[in-house]
Amino acid sequence: AFDVGKLLPSTGLVTLDSGFGSTAACSSAITYIDGDAGILRYRGYPIDQLAQSSTFLETSYLLIYGELPTQAELDAFTNRVSRHTLLHEDLKRFFEGFPRDAHPMPVLSSAVSALSTFYQDSLDPFDEDAVELSTVRLLAKVPTIAAYAYKKSVGQPFLYPDNSLGLVENFLRMTFGFPAEPYEVDPDFARALDVLLILHADHEQNCSTSTVRMVGSSQANLFASISAGINALFGPLHGGANQAVLEMLQRIRDVEDGNVDAFVERVKNREKGARLMGFGHRVYKNYDPRAKIVKQSADEILKKLGVSDQLLDIAKALEERALADDYFIERKLYPNVDFYTGVIYRAMGFPVKMFTVLFALGRLPGWIAHWREMINDPSTKIGRPRQLYVGATERPYVPMGKR
Ligand code: ACO
Repeated sequence: AFDVGKLLPSTGLVTLDSGFGSTAACSSAITYIDGDAGILRYRGYPIDQLAQSSTFLETSYLLIYGELPTQAELDAFTNRVSRHTLLHEDLKRFFEGFPRDAHPMPVLSSAVSALSTFYQDSLDPFDEDAVELSTVRLLAKVPTIAAYAYKKSVGQPFLYPDNSLGLVENFLRMTFGFPAEPYEVDPDFARALDVLLILHADHEQNCSTSTVRMVGSSQANLFASISAGINALFGPLHGGANQAVLEMLQRIRDVEDGNVDAFVERVKNREKGARLMGFGHRVYKNYDPRAKIVKQSADEILKKLGVSDQLLDIAKALEERALADDYFIERKLYPNVDFYTGVIYRAMGFPVKMFTVLFALGRLPGWIAHWREMINDPSTKIGRPRQLYVGATERPYVPMGKR
């Protein structure tokens, strides 16, 4: 609902809608969400069917071009992406400029922003071939950048991509492999990550996607717009929630002796602004269909990898406890996609700081699809919200000696 409406002299009625809960900023044909019914569809295809049967690269094609590819189209797309995975050698040196303990998210956004300087031949937002080239470059190079951000953080040497491998396999090898040493990609592991990327691939006008569209509406190039989206994703109320969830579970285990009840009570009492991270969603008020799939896959993956994790037990106890509590029931708070992803990433061997980077890898095709839809929509105007001014009325300047 609108909090307040006000007539402004220059434009007429202006509505104040904090957080844009009731304001559509665009029309879009990419992703459909029905928050009450727990429905999520990419280009009309239900998320559970895509998670079951599609691959991340095929889903990326679907989001960006609007249709599922034929085999020939998918082969050509896969081939194009795999030929652009290398980074310019000078861009690799970029990573040396960051402190070793830098969080990989700002490293990722900085390196993606720097793509504008290395690939100046694909910056024109109205040149279709250039946009196509930037699209492929992003899909191909962001996994390499993400893997290098990881390698930098653990002080290990970078690996060149191996383009005989698929996108996810290549990313895993560049992340966990060592130069001149064979690295066997576990197919179960790769498939599990592929599914998680599919689940994160788009979510209509979320904070980071809206940021990509907003920045792009000034006709900023695709690299610049995606870099802004990565920064928006970094916050703990958005993509950063997956890291925050794991840190919360670790705190409950290590500091609170696994006492889920005491933690939930602190959240309800809003002690120091405590929130149950990984719970609640602006749109889903019934359940998040992605969370269901992730929870199931957390069980399967941990079993397959032969890992038992106390944090998964704590997460389940926390979910059960919260879902039976009036505070969460009344506010329609359910686990969101990030509640269980961290447990899976951890079992796969990713450090907590990499979790949001993995989200960014997944969300990339969605950002690209939205930027392209925005730039090709003749009704797009530069994003420029209004405000309700609540500051001082006119007053005369006070000289320094009289303040
Ligand atoms: N824990 C405890 N209380 C919560 C939580 C939570 N996780 N989320 C919402 N609430 C409460 C609020 O305090 C508020 O209560 P009140 O009306 O008594 O003041 C009520 O539920 C409504 O919450 P809002 O913050 O108004 O809901 P909004 O739609 O603005 O926020 C958000 C949605 C940001 C996701 C919120 O639920 C949250 O902070 N969740 C935790 C962070 C998180 O998991 N983010 C990931 C979101 S999914 C994603 O980006 C992939």
